[in-house]
Amino acid sequence: MATTERDEISGQETTGHEWDGIKELDSPLPRWWLMVMYACIVWGVGYWVLYPAWPHMSGYTKGVFGYSSRAEVAADIGAANDARKVFADRIASADLETIRQDPKLMEFALAGGKSAYGDNCAGCHGSAAQGGKGYPNLSDDDWLWGGSLEVIQQTIRYGIRSGHDETRDSEMPAFGRDEVLSKEQIDQVAEFVLSLSGQAKDAAAAQQGAPIYAEQCVDCHGEKGQGSREFGAPNLADAIWLFGRDGDSIRAIVTNSRKGVMPHWQGRLPETTIKQLAIYIHALGGGE
Ligand code: HEC
Ligand code: HEC
Repeated sequence: MATTERDEISGQETTGHEWDGIKELDSPLPRWWLMVMYACIVWGVGYWVLYPAWPHMSGYTKGVFGYSSRAEVAADIGAANDARKVFADRIASADLETIRQDPKLMEFALAGGKSAYGDNCAGCHGSAAQGGKGYPNLSDDDWLWGGSLEVIQQTIRYGIRSGHDETRDSEMPAFGRDEVLSKEQIDQVAEFVLSLSGQAKDAAAAQQGAPIYAEQCVDCHGEKGQGSREFGAPNLADAIWLFGRDGDSIRAIVTNSRKGVMPHWQGRLPETTIKQLAIYIHALGGGE
């Protein structure tokens, strides 16, 4: 085994291993392979020196550059927060109209409003602000209290029948429960209400309901049933109903009233978020 032997054909030394006449050549590693390996070693040593590499009892070697991916992420987050704070501060100090004129602020406000809506409002008003029975649609142009930016912001800030000192407030009387009207009168006035949207089936009853309506309802709901924003009283002559368009729903609300409650958000949400929400709701399609 110790004697070196050369292969006749290739001129290469053999390792001395032989199987059934087949000998193993002792070919050197290819040059390019060796170069790559040495380069890797040099690179690896350089890396240990320059970058964090070796763990030890109380931490790790920090390297000449002192690099840390955690510090890099923290710096990125800090930069993002600073950028956001710039926008949040500008939203806090700007009035609603100024925000609407500034596309960048507007974009920031809409994004913030949308996420705050999902967290705080969608449970009652629906994920697409489409509303539901007792909860008004916020994406149409039919408003109980009004659809300008300021009015929407006020509604969000103070709520409706919310118990806040500044809340929007009004109370439709419970005409049946408080015995202001008899059951028959309620049937008649309900029929009259149906006639306002062309749904009445009993013309005689509707006619008898007219004077009751004029006496008891007109102050809030208006002569033609157009509603009144001063009281948040719904339009009774259109196709949009808060509690239901059929006779039973109308008789029920005239008998017992409803007093829908919308919570106030002042003190629960930051003022900037309330602004963003107002802008978001206003931009849903029905803003005035
Ligand atoms: C607990 C249920 C509830 C939640 C939560 C709620 N609302 Fe309301 N909201 C109501 C009800 C009920 C009304 C209608 C009250 C009435 O009859 O006048 C209303 C009315 C409104 C109105 C007035 C609509 C109009 O036609 O004038 C706006 C604007 C509004 N909500 C926005 C919001 C926003 C924004 C949020 C989230 C921050 C929110 N609401 C969360 C129940 C809720
Ligand atoms: C003090 C003002 C006021 C008076 C008076 C009043 N309403 Fe209302 N009405 C309201 C308000 C506010 C609402 C919304 C109810 C809520 O959200 O609680 C309402 C809601 C209704 C609704 C439901 C509308 C819908 O879209 O579903 C009907 C129907 C109605 N009123 C009929 C009447 C009739 C009929 C009378 C008279 C007999 C009357 N109201 C008197 C304030 C009033």
